Order: sequence, then structure tokens, then C-alpha cells
Amino acid sequence: MRAALYRQTGPSSVLSVEELAVPEPGAGEVRVRVAFSGVNPTDWKSRSGATGGGPLAHGFQVPHQDGAGEVDAIGPGVSELRVGQRVWVYLAAAFGNCWGTAAEYCVVPAERALPLPDGATFELGASLGVPAVTAAHCLGLGRGPRAVAGANVLVAGGAGAVGHFAIQLAKQAGARVAATVSTEAKAELARAAGADLVVNYRQPGVADQLKSFAPRMDRIVEVALGANMDLDLALAGPGTVISVYASEASDPVVPTRRFMSANAAVHYLLLYGVPKAELAEAVAWTSSALAAGVLTELPVQRFALEDVGAAQDAVEHGAVGKVVLGTGWEGNAGVPVFRHGQANAQ
Ligand SMILES: NC(=O)c1ccc[n+]([C@@H]2O[C@H](COP(=O)([O-])OP(=O)(O)OC[C@H]3O[C@@H](n4cnc5c(N)ncnc54)[C@H](OP(=O)(O)O)[C@@H]3O)[C@@H](O)[C@H]2O)c1
Repeated sequence: MRAALYRQTGPSSVLSVEELAVPEPGAGEVRVRVAFSGVNPTDWKSRSGATGGGPLAHGFQVPHQDGAGEVDAIGPGVSELRVGQRVWVYLAAAFGNCWGTAAEYCVVPAERALPLPDGATFELGASLGVPAVTAAHCLGLGRGPRAVAGANVLVAGGAGAVGHFAIQLAKQAGARVAATVSTEAKAELARAAGADLVVNYRQPGVADQLKSFAPRMDRIVEVALGANMDLDLALAGPGTVISVYASEASDPVVPTRRFMSANAAVHYLLLYGVPKAELAEAVAWTSSALAAGVLTELPVQRFALEDVGAAQDAVEHGAVGKVVLGTGWEGNAGVPVFRHGQANAQ
């Protein structure tokens, strides 16, 4: 099979596309024929070595956590999936697994491949894993949709991949949702996702606009705690939980007294370490929202598998929308998705 891989961490030039033997699924695992591989910031950060980790456990790593395709082979002991089933895959390259989704086939534990409804494209399926599951956990924090039913929710960065799904999941749960963005184009994306109020955080009067929407936010899904600290504190009070899922170039100084006075909580999270039951809750919410037709894809930028380095660079440089790699395989249903040579970015 054709697979992107790296044998040492470093710049995107460490990536190559090579011919590898098709991997066999072991006990409890499935092999997925990949149509699209989703690219996330975590993928270039892992490849660059920025997020630590020692030598690669298997001597090489096929990158990318997220993807979508069809189950192609089933290992012993797997009963919940069948060959030919359309699936979306999450955390494929995590926990020491070398078979990420940037290849024609990946092998993952069966619980990390979830049914993809017929109405959902492979591109949407490849966009879900890290962003949607993170969004679901930021909102639910182990309790699922009921945690934000009827709540006032602020999504910082509502046009980002996590922000997009946070808006859609919060709306599905019955929350009132405000979002911040930096441009009008991003405002359109956040409105299309369903935000009730979208505010450009680069313009004056942000706190006032948000306060007139909700004097106190119950949940803030935060991508930049340091940059938004004053705004978040202006909207925080007893019961507010700020779910922080991203770090910034430098760590902010947390004003403890102001947080004490607000009786607000900051909850930091990293998907790889979320307790198993809470992760399962977030995955289940994502799956049920997908089945209900609530989740949609952001504008997609498509790259061919051979252009994996350029795709990761695009994500590193803040591509708007979702970057995916196409393997060139259309799926057994022949759904027209992507062929080599097709124009890349939309
Ligand atoms: N903890 C976890 O488990 C976890 C999971 C997923 C992602 N992440 C991390 O979260 C970050 C975002 O991931 P993503 O996939 O959503 O990336 P993305 O699609 O690039 O979205 C990031 C968004 O944040 C916005 N943003 C940046 N600074 C902002 C600010 N001060 N206020 C409001 N919005 C701001 C950006 O837009 P503007 O710059 O135009 O405002 C952009 O829309 C990455 O650093 C990623 O590594 C962590």
C-alpha cells in the first residue's frame, strides 16, 4: 500500500510516501481502507517533535489521527463491525499505534472506528475525530449533552475545527451559543454552524455585546486562554467552567484572585489523557449527533496523499476550514469523492 510516514521527527521534509505491506489487524482490531485522512494541528506538532515523545516505537510512524473509509478486514474477537461498513476513525496514530490514517489502509482498535451514516461524506468522517470529540468533551466534561442543555455557551474561535463542532454540538444540546471570530469570512462560518451571536473579537465592544447576550456564560470553550483572559473573566461567575483545549506560544499568568472572586473554574484538557469513560461519552455524543445529521463539514481543502507535507504545512500555517488528504479511493459505493489530479484547495 502507499503510505505517508516519517522515521524521525523534524520539519515536514521528514515525510515520505512509500510502498509498505498492507498491515494485518490483530485481536480486537480492524483494518480500514482509507478514503480520506483528516489533518489536525496535533499531527504536525507530533511530527515536528514539538510535543515530546522519544524514539518512534516501531521505527516509523504513519501520521494522522483521523480518517474515514470502509472496514476491509476484521481481527479476532471483533463483533461490532463488519467488512464493507463505512466508518470514521479517531486517534488512529495514538498510544503507540504506528498505523495512522495517512495511507491506503490503517489498523486501529475496533472501538476507534465508528459507523459513518450513508448521508455523511468520507470528508466529514475524516474531519470528526480530534476536533468533534474534543468539542464534545469541552462541553460535556463527562456528562454529555445534558451538561449544557439550556446553558449559555461561548465558543472562542467559532470558525476553527474544534469551534465549529462545539457550536453544532452545543446547539443540539439546547444551549444558547455565542462565538468569537477574527474576520467576516469566519463570522459567516460560525453563523452557518448555528451560532446565535457571532462577534469579531478584533473590534471594540466585544464584552458588552456578549454580556447583553448573556451576563454570565455557563461554559466557555477556550482556544486562547491568555489572549482572552479578561474577556472570559468579564463573562464568568459562579458555575462558569472554562474548558481550555489549546496552549499558546507562552503560558498565561492566571489571576487567581479574580478567578476566586468569580467562583469560576478552569478545566484544562488534552484528548490523549481524557479518562476512558469520559472519552467514550464524548465519542458517543459525536456519533449520535452525526447520526442525527447535526454535524456538517467546514469548507474542505483537499490534498493528494503524496502532498502530505504541504497538507501538514497548510494546517501549521492556519488554513481556514478542514485540510484532508485523499488516497484516491472512492469507496465501494462509488461515491464520487476525490481523484488524483483534481484541483487541490477550493
Ligand atoms: N487539547 C486537545 O486535546 C486538543 C484537541 C484539538 C485541538 N487542540 C489544539 O487546539 C488548537 C486549535 O485546533 P483546531 O483544529 O480547532 O485549529 P483551527 O481549525 O486552526 O482553529 C483555531 C481557531 O482559533 C482561532 N483563534 C486563534 N486565536 C484566537 C483568539 N485569541 N480568540 C478567538 N479565537 C482565536 C483561529 O482563528 P483566528 O486566528 O482568525 O482568530 C482559528 O479559527 C490547536 O492548537 C490544536 O493543537 C487541542
